[in-house]
Amino acid sequence: MNRAVIIGTGSCLPERVLTNADLEQIVDTSDEWITTRTGISTRRIAERDERTSALATKAAREALSMANVSPKELDLIFLGTITSDMAMPSCACLVQKELGAVNAAAMDLNAACSGFVYGLDIAEKYIKSDPSMKILVIGAETLSTRTNWKDRNTCVLFGDGAGASVLTGSNNGSGILSSRLYSDGSLWQLLSMESAPRQVCPVLNDNPADADKQHDGSYIKMVGKDVFRYAVRSMEQAVLSQLEKEGVSINDVNLMIPHQANIRILRSLVEKLNIPIEKVFITVSKYGNTSAASIPICIDEANRSGRLTEGDLVLLCVFGGGFTWGVTLIRW
Ligand code: ACO
Repeated sequence: MNRAVIIGTGSCLPERVLTNADLEQIVDTSDEWITTRTGISTRRIAERDERTSALATKAAREALSMANVSPKELDLIFLGTITSDMAMPSCACLVQKELGAVNAAAMDLNAACSGFVYGLDIAEKYIKSDPSMKILVIGAETLSTRTNWKDRNTCVLFGDGAGASVLTGSNNGSGILSSRLYSDGSLWQLLSMESAPRQVCPVLNDNPADADKQHDGSYIKMVGKDVFRYAVRSMEQAVLSQLEKEGVSINDVNLMIPHQANIRILRSLVEKLNIPIEKVFITVSKYGNTSAASIPICIDEANRSGRLTEGDLVLLCVFGGGFTWGVTLIRW
């Protein structure tokens, strides 16, 4: 049976490291609070001129090189991000231009932290219909540009980075076995970020004072405790249901790659699923929460560090704003 197989992975982390000690100088916080509540010690921060498309392009080049695929061979580029360089064009189009992927259609996917997993799911459907296709899926973020650096509740959590995977069809038994996406827009207010300030057409503006109202910033806002609760519960249920559907047990999983939100969410999930922590890939302490980039960065690190062996059963699970969440099962 033809399946969509990841044939190349790449990642890009900005060089600048922001430590908890640095954050102590910015807001009223402490290394002790941050590490005990989140497990995060450092995160990477993009330079002023280092935009999401630049990180995404570097990760994509690495993935293409490993896959031995030239940019001209790409049919599609999906890029999960909530921090695109511009509202228009898409970040994916900027990456397409930089790569010279002249035969690829390119588009962004906004599913917050779930963007990469959403992209994988769509890529898999394309490849099932035409196994010769070559598709680049990227997750890339510069969340530091959308962080309220005066809000200690959120500014300690996030980091910048990008990860990419190249997929094509194969019938050698490996590849994506199944995936399932979910969303619940009714809970959007628990985790949100305003887009650019909205303009009001003068004919609609019956109160002139409104026009001068200060926009309160295009920042990430969240109700931390509720996000925590929904994240654990949703990922747990999604994982159990997918394992059951595929007729495998959690004991069959060789490596779980969960979204890296924070260590307490990961520990709760691990406990509920009853999977040994040694089977869980964790980068949150060094990169923080990089939203859509978190899973593809982990996949690349796991791949390059020898944590993935042919035939391994790999479980991805993610949760993010929307709410959106999802699960992917891969035979490596
Ligand atoms: N430094 C010091 N104190 C802080 C900080 C900080 N950085 N941030 C908050 N506090 C204070 C609060 O103000 C509060 O003080 P108060 O009691 O005087 O009001 C106190 O610490 C406790 O705050 P809580 O909100 O109860 O802390 P909690 O144990 O819930 O931890 C946290 C907060 C880490 C945000 C937690 O709720 C959480 O992990 N939520 C999940 C959110 C998340 O990971 N979001 C990422 C995006 S979503 C995703 O990717 C899935």
